[in-house]
Amino acid sequence: MIYSNKTAADLLRTKPLINPSLLAADFRNLAHDIRHLEEAGAKILHLDIMDGHFVPNLSFGVPVTEAIRRCTDLPLDVHLMLSEPQKYIKPFRDAGADFISFHIEVVPAPRQLFDEIRKLGAKPGIALNPPTPVESVLPFVNDCDLVLTMSVMPGFGGQSFNPVALEKIRRIREKAGENVLISVDGGVGENTIADCAAAGANLFVAGTALFDSPNLSERLRFFEELVLYAPSKLPQHNG
Ligand code: DX5
Ligand code: ZN
Repeated sequence: MIYSNKTAADLLRTKPLINPSLLAADFRNLAHDIRHLEEAGAKILHLDIMDGHFVPNLSFGVPVTEAIRRCTDLPLDVHLMLSEPQKYIKPFRDAGADFISFHIEVVPAPRQLFDEIRKLGAKPGIALNPPTPVESVLPFVNDCDLVLTMSVMPGFGGQSFNPVALEKIRRIREKAGENVLISVDGGVGENTIADCAAAGANLFVAGTALFDSPNLSERLRFFEELVLYAPSKLPQHNG
């Protein structure tokens, strides 16, 4: 099995980090879309795993993750939307996952699962839904590699961004060390990505808004520029 050995710190050296969500790719030909994303300069890929229980939808699982792994050396950021993530950590790691995130709503004391993920050689992440208070993850943000702030209720692509995520990102940013990936997921696109960057996100999951474009590399570049020139990153002017 080929894994990406890239750490969160390695990835953060190549800013800005747009994280294409394969949920919006063409499932008839994932290999084609992945090649296209690589050529467009993507540095990481986001895989949405749904169980029809934690979320009201199903997506894909271990065999498709394994097939994706065989298409690319890019780090695979696997987002487990599962009621019982602890049962599936090893199968997804064996399938090639590099970052493995699960939800605080189902694992309120996540340190043990972080350790299990690390023992398997992967990097753990914790996700939280829009109604979940940010205080539930704050004690753990420096015990994992990635904090996944949902800006929609998980389960479907193409939903509208909920700005409740922005204040959470600010709070996570205040607490998290500089090598923690602060990811935002859901409705991220040209009208929302700069606000996420200004709030402190450094990893931007984008599905619909990216794959909507006939020119993936142009769209990717456009999003990168919006992140680079987000308000808080502009030089301060006097007067
Ligand atoms: C939602 C998933 C997201 C989704 C984002 O359940 O976790 O990763 O693919 O899709 P867009 O960018 O279309 O909102
Ligand atoms: Zn996701």
